[in-house]
Amino acid sequence: MSDLSTIRSEALSAVEAAADLAALDAARVSVLGKKGSVTGLMKTLGALAPEERKEFGARVNQLKGEIETALEARKGMLSSSALAARLASEKIDVSLPVRPEAQGTVHPIGQVMDELAGIFGDMGFTWAEGPDIEDDWHNFTALNIPPDHPARQMQDTFYLPPRADGTPMVLRTHTSPVQARTMLSKDVQKMLADGGSLRIIVPGRTYRIDSDATHAPMFHQVEGLVIDRGTHMGHLKGCLVDFCRAFFEIDDLPLRFRPSYFPFTEPSAEVDIGCSWKDGELRIGAGDSWLEILGSGMVHPRVIANCGLDPAIYQGFAFGMGIDRIAMLKYGINDLRAFFDADLRWLRNYGFSALEMPR
Ligand code: PHE
Repeated sequence: MSDLSTIRSEALSAVEAAADLAALDAARVSVLGKKGSVTGLMKTLGALAPEERKEFGARVNQLKGEIETALEARKGMLSSSALAARLASEKIDVSLPVRPEAQGTVHPIGQVMDELAGIFGDMGFTWAEGPDIEDDWHNFTALNIPPDHPARQMQDTFYLPPRADGTPMVLRTHTSPVQARTMLSKDVQKMLADGGSLRIIVPGRTYRIDSDATHAPMFHQVEGLVIDRGTHMGHLKGCLVDFCRAFFEIDDLPLRFRPSYFPFTEPSAEVDIGCSWKDGELRIGAGDSWLEILGSGMVHPRVIANCGLDPAIYQGFAFGMGIDRIAMLKYGINDLRAFFDADLRWLRNYGFSALEMPR
């Protein structure tokens, strides 16, 4: 029974001596754990006479309470000093300059595609797409270029192995096959039959066997197509004049429509914009020279018929433009090949901030 004060003082000094939370827990186990000293005292109670048990039991309980309080207090102290130590060692100096972060840029082609979508979007055009690997029928035949047509030689085509069913396949040489794909769509035919009109632009990759400073085997075009019942050449002109002036940001930019030939349009026109050359430098705008930037025309009635529409009811215009070319002209880039080199220094110089809103 004299144990009691010894156990008390040993227990309390173990609690006081605990230097951290782990040591404190070890102290708790040595006193209150299964084999702890106070637990041991509790176990002796059963063997005592009732009177003694009552009196001694009360003292053991009080001792237990006292030790628990000491444990709690010590625990509180150790946790707050552990926190203080962490705060001291993990201090963040918010005044340090931030580490420079690599920031990407928008490629000029992506930028120009966004600009196209913005300008044509304002005129009611929506964005359409088609496959890069195209069948010969959509790329040529539907567009009034039959197999033996000389126009097939105009475009140096990458031919691919035919499909299992014998369908001849190509890498599309222009975005025009998407004209056919769109007109053939049941939804579009229904929309037209219901009196609606079709207006799409088709920005995308195109392929021809060609490679120099201004030609790459892979390049980009944007196709435009309008189909309804009343569209005429005047609409084609107005649309392209508005587009070119908005795109090049020159309100009085002169345009010249030159008669031309495409199998899928009739009449056809190539479009030039005014420019001038000073000390070998190109300036876009009214001047003494012209730059060709796109092909266009009224959709050939045979193309409309090939695509399942009645040319006696429907007509419209189409145009095709090199995206790389207009990007080079607008942003003063003189070698097309740099577009596809993925050179980060070039991209940092010619790229656009992702946060810049396209116009
Ligand atoms: N597809 C033609 C080309 O690649 C451009 C074009 C499109 C011309 C639509 C007229 C109408 O050269």
